[in-house]
Amino acid sequence: MNPKIDNLLTETRRFSPSEAFAANAIAGRDLYERAETDRLEFWAEQSRELLDWEKPFTRVLDWTNPPFAKWFEDGTLNVAYNCLDRHVEAGNGDRVALHWEGEPGDSRSLTYAELTTEVKRLSNVLIDLGIRAGDRVAIYLPMIPEAIMAMLAVARLGAIHSVVFGGFSADSLRSRIDDASAKLVITADGGYRKGKVSALKPAVDAALAPRGELGVQETVKNVLVVKRGENTVDWTEGRDLWWHDVVPAASPEHTPEAFPSENPLFILYTSGTTGSPKGILHTSGGYLTQAAFTHKNIFDIHPETDVYWCTADIGWITGHTYVTYGPLANGTTQVIYEGTPDAPHPGRWWEIIEKYGVSIFYTAPTAIRSFMKLGRKIPKKFDLSSLRLLGSVGEPINPEAWMWFRKVIGGKLAPIVDTWWQTETGAIMISALPGLTETKPGSAQVAVPGISIEVLGDSGSAVESGSGGLLVVSEPWPSMLRGIWGDPERFKETYWEKFGDKYFAGDGARLDEDGDIWLLGRVDDVMNVSGHRLSTAEIESALVAHPYTAEAAVVGASDETTGQAVVAFVIIKESQLEEAGGAAHISDALRAHVAAQIGAIARPREVFVVNELPKTRSGKIMRRLLRDVAEGREVGDTTTLADTSVMRIISDRVSAN
Ligand code: WT7
Repeated sequence: MNPKIDNLLTETRRFSPSEAFAANAIAGRDLYERAETDRLEFWAEQSRELLDWEKPFTRVLDWTNPPFAKWFEDGTLNVAYNCLDRHVEAGNGDRVALHWEGEPGDSRSLTYAELTTEVKRLSNVLIDLGIRAGDRVAIYLPMIPEAIMAMLAVARLGAIHSVVFGGFSADSLRSRIDDASAKLVITADGGYRKGKVSALKPAVDAALAPRGELGVQETVKNVLVVKRGENTVDWTEGRDLWWHDVVPAASPEHTPEAFPSENPLFILYTSGTTGSPKGILHTSGGYLTQAAFTHKNIFDIHPETDVYWCTADIGWITGHTYVTYGPLANGTTQVIYEGTPDAPHPGRWWEIIEKYGVSIFYTAPTAIRSFMKLGRKIPKKFDLSSLRLLGSVGEPINPEAWMWFRKVIGGKLAPIVDTWWQTETGAIMISALPGLTETKPGSAQVAVPGISIEVLGDSGSAVESGSGGLLVVSEPWPSMLRGIWGDPERFKETYWEKFGDKYFAGDGARLDEDGDIWLLGRVDDVMNVSGHRLSTAEIESALVAHPYTAEAAVVGASDETTGQAVVAFVIIKESQLEEAGGAAHISDALRAHVAAQIGAIARPREVFVVNELPKTRSGKIMRRLLRDVAEGREVGDTTTLADTSVMRIISDRVSAN
């Protein structure tokens, strides 16, 4: 749901934090002032204040070889030690780190001392399995405490994790394992989703099935399996190990080793404008600095009293930065939940907030809109008075959803922070500071202290206030991606070619009279479905891999709940038409095919069978016109089409469907 510029211009509502909130807020105006005075010194101070460095750094930023940045390069630290041991050493071992709530209603709380011990045991298991600094470990788990333990144990050894969202298919898992040459996969038999056990181990088995292709060597040596779903699973002797057999038996002693600041921490795959997902690479010291800084200041974390809940899955960047690294670096008590918001009843999330007394709640606009649809009666049944701060992330939040969130969930008191960032930025880049900023429904507002954001026209000059342009980050930042795994050229081309040494984010934005930023959605062929990033090209290539399909074009059409929805237009091969057995059957088969190839999140909402696709004379598909059709609008300017009659035929087809 990309807010249109005109609607935003008319949004005049303003909300200031209460005096009580402002009086106790962590972040003050001095942050902006200090960052303004000396940006690099500001980040150095934050890093020293928020993290424990084994060897303190003396250099802050090396930007002599753009776009390859080095932050705090000569310092060394252990990321897991910063998230665990040091809190225990400081006397906070009894503080709860995780309140885990399983979907069926089982639960488990782990203190910092307990979580630290479990991670130490797991680290010893990983060492036994041959995992060393720099090795890649794939993690394919549901939202259970073991998922966070797995990330931290890998980080503790200086190895690199690649978390693959549990909703991705065996094929997607396979290509991510291959791209990173992972040595180990950590998974579970299954996990609970929508009231049922959803199996994971079979997808790992399928991904690792012998391929017999010449020259393809299996890099995975072991599969470590958590028992969660109790579903029966196949077992490969010698390769597979049960977590419960090896982790409890391992020694609870492990001394963390310090690694250089630029030691890689994780790879996380995300969709781009071409068919193959890119492995976004993040490193240690700079990433953890900005994760901890933004988490503490934007979510106003008071670790002794707050209960924080971010609803993201660890399969996405939000789950990395604002479930695992930011909150644990800050010694926060947090809630994690395994299941879906509506299982076993539509008030499940509100029940969890009541149960744990959640005070800070961070979620996505798509979830807020689904709850809006169900009505305020459901949240009204629960006591949500513990909430004092709300956050939104993943896509532009429309003012209507913002107002509903404020009123129905936040009781008109809790400030809302709308946080803009990306897998690539690693941490929040644009947001209000909750005790300071007068908030505006629908605007992400201002750059985080120490971050330089500009809105530029195509030519690279700054746009005037009131007009739209392209969002760029004009100075390197601590948690920036360090590259695309194995593909430095693609890294340069994708983000740095358009504006030289400024990072091009791929988003459109508008600056208003006050200098506040309003995000307008992607300007490239990347879709945003329920806050998840999907590539038109990746889904098109899945569609043409099906025997029915001759050609395919995919667009993101606006959708009331999910923001955008995947809509596909396909041309069926003449030879297959008869066998395929009618448009309805074709559509079902292709929707299922995409879900199987990529994952259920990529399943098109609609597949339209057409005879032609609108193309320019140079053969480029005009997605803009297909989007008009998919959204039921009058088709726009068709004068650059090679064949101008095509759109009428497509429109007729679609309305007949
Ligand atoms: C894209 C990044 C960052 C975590 C979740 C998504 C969109 C993200 C906002 C926001 C408007 C937003 C952008 C961005 N986006 N947050 N607050 N307002 N748009 O991470 O999968 O890397 O996607 O999500 O279009 O480019 P991601």
